[in-house]
Amino acid sequence: MTEVETRPDEQTPYERIGGGSAVSAVVDAFYQRVVADPQLAPYFSEVDMAQLKRHQAQLISHLLDGPVSYEGRELGEAHAGLGITDADYGRVVGHLVSVLVEAGVPEDILASLGGTLEAVQPDIVSRTS
Ligand code: HEM
Repeated sequence: MTEVETRPDEQTPYERIGGGSAVSAVVDAFYQRVVADPQLAPYFSEVDMAQLKRHQAQLISHLLDGPVSYEGRELGEAHAGLGITDADYGRVVGHLVSVLVEAGVPEDILASLGGTLEAVQPDIVSRTS
């Protein structure tokens, strides 16, 4: 008898969370919270949100080993001169992590994304709070 086996180890994190539609849903919910946060909203008032969401979805997909390339700028270049503080950074990461947790993203994937977010903090923060 043939059995269908599920082998989670052979799936990429991107596939495990539900692929492109799951990433888009997370990114939409994330920026909804970011622009609804009065401390963060001013940073985004002049930003092309459709392009930002597209680039953020590409970046997250790429970090999850999805079949997508990132077409945005280097993170240091994209955030240069915005005067982002550690506190702002913490709030943005908090919104992203909440959305990922609420979407049911598994612990191991959260931990690995969390490590990447920590590693890019110095590229994004340019002002002390
Ligand atoms: C938590 C880690 C973060 C990641 C992974 C991230 C990622 C990105 C990406 C991929 C882009 C698009 C770059 C492009 O289109 O070339 C971007 C742009 C932007 N980010 Fe972030 N970001 C982070 C934190 C923050 C924080 C803390 C703020 C402000 C509070 C912020 C504000 C912005 C703004 C305003 C833009 C648009 C800049 C422009 O179009 O000129 N980001 N970010």
